[in-house]
Amino acid sequence: MHLAHGLRKGEQMDTRIYYFSATGNCLSVAKRIAHGIDADIVSIAKEMQNDRVRIEARRIGIVFPAYLTSVMGLPLIVERFCRSIDYREDMRIFAVCTCGGYPFANAFVPLEKLKKLICKCGGQLDAAYSVRMPMNNLDYEHIPVPISKDIPKIIERANRKTDRIGRRILSGRGTRFVLLKWLTCRLVSGIYLAFRRQTMDVLAKMAKLDADVSQPAERLVPLTDRSIVVREHCIGCGTCASVCPVQNIAMQNGRPVYRHHCEMCFACDEWCPVGAIQHWSRADGIKYHYPDVQVSDLL
Ligand SMILES: Cc1cc2nc3c(=O)[nH]c(=O)nc-3n(C[C@H](O)[C@H](O)[C@H](O)COP(=O)(O)O)c2cc1C
Ligand code: SF4
Ligand code: SF4
Repeated sequence: MHLAHGLRKGEQMDTRIYYFSATGNCLSVAKRIAHGIDADIVSIAKEMQNDRVRIEARRIGIVFPAYLTSVMGLPLIVERFCRSIDYREDMRIFAVCTCGGYPFANAFVPLEKLKKLICKCGGQLDAAYSVRMPMNNLDYEHIPVPISKDIPKIIERANRKTDRIGRRILSGRGTRFVLLKWLTCRLVSGIYLAFRRQTMDVLAKMAKLDADVSQPAERLVPLTDRSIVVREHCIGCGTCASVCPVQNIAMQNGRPVYRHHCEMCFACDEWCPVGAIQHWSRADGIKYHYPDVQVSDLL
């Protein structure tokens, strides 16, 4: 009997999971799935330091966070990664989007965008899944800030969902409720059109460009580090520079200096041990990272 991924029942497939993670949510999901399906995991940020993305594995997974669903959906680095893959006909691909809000409103659109992107580049996304995780971007008024008592509950639910995803991948069964998800995605995309302008203005302000200048998000996001403030009490430890997935921070005279090719991932802000980095208009002093992930796991 053939399964959805073209395997015979009981047949093993070598699998590699690529993840992008700033605060550890995607890393934890990637690790959990990898453990369940016997795969290895590789950081997209690390892989993108090579000239070319060479993938030997027959099945690959892409685990990524939703970023500004109303205007972007995917982190820019994940888009670049997908564009640089040499897709093969026998390659099977699944994706998992983690998000801080409810998946129907926050993950379906990024997954659809990823599907189209992979298709445009000559590949095919065979299965798409979503997991709700604690929100690491505190600027959303409509998504509750994860206060400490909520985090264990969200993570417990996320773990159960991640285990179910692992079992579906292993059994070769694809995405559930495809038509319903596609319809939801169309509806949500339509609603987001109304918010698009507002979010683009915020991005332009962060990039310190005139809000009237209509630049695409790909131009604005790298410049958003212009609105990052490093406070006096910085101790010059260099953690921000080490965790930055795209080496956007140089340490000069014991202080971080931003180089304007930012991914807007918030890793520097969230991992600074003394809370010296203030990003955007985020609630001061409230930091999040996945409880079991350490700085060293992200390096
Ligand atoms: C710049 C930015 C934008 C985000 N936008 C959204 C969003 O539109 N919807 C949502 O549900 N979560 C959003 N999030 C939250 C992340 O998708 C979520 O917390 C994710 O699990 C973080 O993964 P990580 O810890 O692996 O980086 C955003 C996070 C960042 C940093
Ligand atoms: S992580 Fe914080 S304290 Fe350390 S160098 Fe960066 S801003 Fe300064
Ligand atoms: S500078 Fe900070 S927000 Fe920008 S990519 Fe690096 S860690 Fe992320």
